[in-house]
Amino acid sequence: MEKVKFYPVKGYIDFQKGATADIERFWEKEATKLEWFKHWDKVLEWEEPFAKWFVGGELNASYLCIDRHLYSWHKNKVALYWEDEAGNTKAYSYFQLYREVNKFASMLENLGVKKGDRVVLYLPMIPELTIAMLATVRIGAIHTVVFSGFSSQALADRINDTSAEVLIAADVGLRRGKYVPLKQIVDVALKAAPAIKKVVVIKRTSEEINMVAGRDLLYHDLIRDAEDYVEPRPMESMHPLFILYTSGTTGKPKGVVHSTGGYLVYINSTYKWVFDISDESVYWCTADVGWVTGHTSIVYAPLLHGATVLMYEGAPDYPHPDRWWEIIEKYGVTIFYTSPTAIKMFMRYGDERIKRYNLSSLKILGSVGEVINPEVWEWYYKNIGGERCPIVDTWWQTETGGIMISPVPGIELVPLKPGSATLPLPGIDAEVVDEEGKPVDTSVKGHLVIRKPWPGMLMGLYNNPERYKEAYWSKFKGLFYTGDYAIKDEDGYFWLLGRTDEVLKVAGHRLGTAEVEGAVIGAPFVAEAAVIGKPDPIKGENIIVFVILKEGYEPADELKKEIVKEVRKQIGPIATPQEIHFVDKLPKTRSGKIMRRVLKTIMMDKPLGDLSTLEDEASVEEVKAVYEDFKQMMKKKA
Ligand code: PRX
Repeated sequence: MEKVKFYPVKGYIDFQKGATADIERFWEKEATKLEWFKHWDKVLEWEEPFAKWFVGGELNASYLCIDRHLYSWHKNKVALYWEDEAGNTKAYSYFQLYREVNKFASMLENLGVKKGDRVVLYLPMIPELTIAMLATVRIGAIHTVVFSGFSSQALADRINDTSAEVLIAADVGLRRGKYVPLKQIVDVALKAAPAIKKVVVIKRTSEEINMVAGRDLLYHDLIRDAEDYVEPRPMESMHPLFILYTSGTTGKPKGVVHSTGGYLVYINSTYKWVFDISDESVYWCTADVGWVTGHTSIVYAPLLHGATVLMYEGAPDYPHPDRWWEIIEKYGVTIFYTSPTAIKMFMRYGDERIKRYNLSSLKILGSVGEVINPEVWEWYYKNIGGERCPIVDTWWQTETGGIMISPVPGIELVPLKPGSATLPLPGIDAEVVDEEGKPVDTSVKGHLVIRKPWPGMLMGLYNNPERYKEAYWSKFKGLFYTGDYAIKDEDGYFWLLGRTDEVLKVAGHRLGTAEVEGAVIGAPFVAEAAVIGKPDPIKGENIIVFVILKEGYEPADELKKEIVKEVRKQIGPIATPQEIHFVDKLPKTRSGKIMRRVLKTIMMDKPLGDLSTLEDEASVEEVKAVYEDFKQMMKKKA
């Protein structure tokens, strides 16, 4: 670590505290870094739990990400490089992006899309996804990107919740050399989501696709009638920019709504602080745009800064394990942002092959989505960063819109501690509290909460203010509940310790146990199901399912296959269970709640602890026996 230059931490901590003491003054200054069509009247209206930022102000995200750059040398610099796993490439200058976005926006208007309408984007990692997002917000419509790995059922659920009428899709996605038939998935989804009136299909291949007359239209036809320019409409600061669904503790995903003004101000400043992003950056975030990390890091933040973004379509290690390092070398990537799961996967391939690549362009490395443990941190630091690049371990959530806890090399680089996300960003009042909501002592585990509103904070949950209050503001009065455990050490550094609730993190993807259970129960022979996350050295967690069969069914591998099929149908391959166990009983409390904690403890071979609320001890014995048999079988197989 000696080679990284550190600065005294005190100056930064004083600055952080000053900003957090007077959030309105602080964020007002940050807001002036964007160009507004109309100045705000009021910085913040805080009626807990609803925050309104920069009230009365007007701006446009598409204008800020593109048009603004046309008045300088940025006009002809590369805004977006795209490459897929087969090595196909595309590049768009800011001017070219501007052209495409305007045409796309005109096409949406020609389809009748107006301010406030929801547009669902079901697209793989292709430039048209960025273009579609910027075009949607250019005319004040609201995008809902649905990760293209989600199944038809998951897509239908999200469409229905937003009651959108327009869907943009591609014929296929590309993964591991195979086409993913996205249009087919759309066709199935729309049987359960009849509100969609128009489907615009971006055709990438000559694959035959089904086109429904009157509903399905080809992008390439529509774009011929599109205008070259569509005025970026001034939007009120609190006009919703997008809805993004994420998993919570119930089976139904939550539609997190982000605002235009607050979100953009927040990500503009925080990406400067955390990544020191500038127009010289070649910024590569390996997430999918379908997650919040991608929204903020592949689209809005880098383009606000006039940086060059790299977008990659494909699996990390396909067609060979060096694909990513090859790309960093090829494009001279300066900022690389990925997940601990990906890093752990590459660690398995060893360090030798990485040495063949010139990674000297890298300046800052980022990690997101899960806890990065110290060994993984050290490996990343040494092998990818060449002991030169600070690692920014960034803690945040779909709900927070942008990064909340992280080192900030763009302001001052505080000493890094592998495994800690370090300190809250300026203006962020984070704390670790006990069950009563009182700050815990140093190094005591507690709940991570945020005590003051911040501009990137979600506006609410779409059409569901009650669930918003319940999910985030009911556990502790006046504190935003993150659902994460953390400790704070003697230097005030935060160490994240995973979720407190029934939310799983599988390879960085957020899934609810209830959501997966709902899908398992979809199999006609399943009476009851319980899902837990079992720690996995690479993926963080694996999905383990316990199933009680309906009468008349006997445990069989065929049924396991059916369950896997059902989960993939209802959610998608990311939710595929790793293990399925058949039992006659599940451990439950006397009031009938499944005790997932007990299942998890057995899976981890740990002492069971307090079982006083358990209804029937025989259920525990059965799970133990089933699991023992399973372990023996695995041993034999090995
Ligand atoms: O548990 C935390 C974990 O990811 C959750 C948020 O997931 P999602 O909304 O999908 O957003 C992911 C990326 C922005 C958090 O509640 N998490 C995120 N970043 C970190 C993390 N856990 C530990 N360290 C992090 N840096």
